[in-house]
Amino acid sequence: MSSREALARDLTLARERTLRLVDLDDTELLRQYDPLMSPLVWDLAHIGWQEELWLLRGNDPARPGLLEPNVERCYDAFQNSRASRVDLPLLPPTDARTYCATVRDKALDSLDALPDDADDFTFGLVVSHENQHDETMLQALNLRTGPALLDSGTPLPPGRPGVAGTSVPVPGGPFVLGVDAADEPQSLDNERSAHLVDVPSFRIGRVPVTNGEWRVFIADGGYREPRWWSERGWQHRQNANLVAPQFWRPDGSRIRFGHVEQIPDDEPVQHVSYFEAEAYAAWAGARLPTEEEWEKACAWDPAVGRRRRFPWGSGEPTGALANLGGDALRPAPVGAYPGGASAYGAEQMLGDVWEWTSSPIRPWPGFTPMLYEQYTQPFFGGDFHVLRGGAWSVAAGILRPSFRNWDHPIRRQIFSGVRLAWDV
Ligand code: AVJ
Ligand code: FE
Repeated sequence: MSSREALARDLTLARERTLRLVDLDDTELLRQYDPLMSPLVWDLAHIGWQEELWLLRGNDPARPGLLEPNVERCYDAFQNSRASRVDLPLLPPTDARTYCATVRDKALDSLDALPDDADDFTFGLVVSHENQHDETMLQALNLRTGPALLDSGTPLPPGRPGVAGTSVPVPGGPFVLGVDAADEPQSLDNERSAHLVDVPSFRIGRVPVTNGEWRVFIADGGYREPRWWSERGWQHRQNANLVAPQFWRPDGSRIRFGHVEQIPDDEPVQHVSYFEAEAYAAWAGARLPTEEEWEKACAWDPAVGRRRRFPWGSGEPTGALANLGGDALRPAPVGAYPGGASAYGAEQMLGDVWEWTSSPIRPWPGFTPMLYEQYTQPFFGGDFHVLRGGAWSVAAGILRPSFRNWDHPIRRQIFSGVRLAWDV
């Protein structure tokens, strides 16, 4: 398949996913489920607006577009806080769908007309952006109260007993952090460029921390003991009155996309903030990995002194290697993907849950903003920690070991979990 054919396929798959997520009546799409999230109809039209700007208007907002200026203003994420979007004069759902379809038709025509040797990075950016918003819409739907709209998710492979709580060694030495456009043409600005980093020996969790392990932390008074928490973390724990991961209920059940269910012990814990992750790690006699450590454990192959494209090698992700794509609606039990292990034996590095790292988001040497200049740069130096590895909610095609996500340390409506690390 040519790169153009692959991009056309990925654009279409992303759009099918988006349209499944917004296959709801108008009142539902216009609702604000939580002040942290936009109404779903905002995400929908924002996806179309960015696509139009990048692919059809040469990234020049002064070039006239399909929407009235006072309407298109609504869809600039930097001009409108999430909390405020419900009060904007948004396109009604039918108009938003028509707008997105019109933009997409023109975008596919321009992809068709692209010369063979032309740079198609921007099309990949559109695929990534749409899929990232699909994940955001899943976060919103998960916060919705009331009877479930989505089913409980597709089947997943079983876990393996005995892997929770175990770790693997990663011997010290330099490795190549980050990627270059030559190796990963669709990599985003914050993943570039590849450079050597020396990482001292450490151990890393073979799998993410599980619900069962988290329950022991709770029972041991983990949420009541300031000594496990950073100063800021404890202050937040007090202010927000945290006692368990978000969506856990006092009777030992949880609510997930409107379904009330028992919390599976062997599933990676989800919906914990950075502050909780830090406290759990301290209680467990461990710490969070840095993102350099995380990426080395995920991608480096010490036998050949090169990066792997994926933890398991060069083959594209499949349902036998990782839980990705968004249909599972939950993480897989730990040990479910032995074939997806990295060279060091770390499992479930891609998919399942985003893993908090101790690193604030910062530029790699030689950082150059991409065409979407505000994607990463405005967040450097802010109060954001990097999360790695993607979750069950992430489209396989946009994820790489070098992919970086970030959020405020108090956030936990995201599909966030924990993998521990230890000094040796
Ligand atoms: C990379 C997930 C932090 O959702 O704020 C979507 C992705 N940027 N549109 C976000 C993004 C612009 C971004 N994260
Ligand atoms: Fe966006």
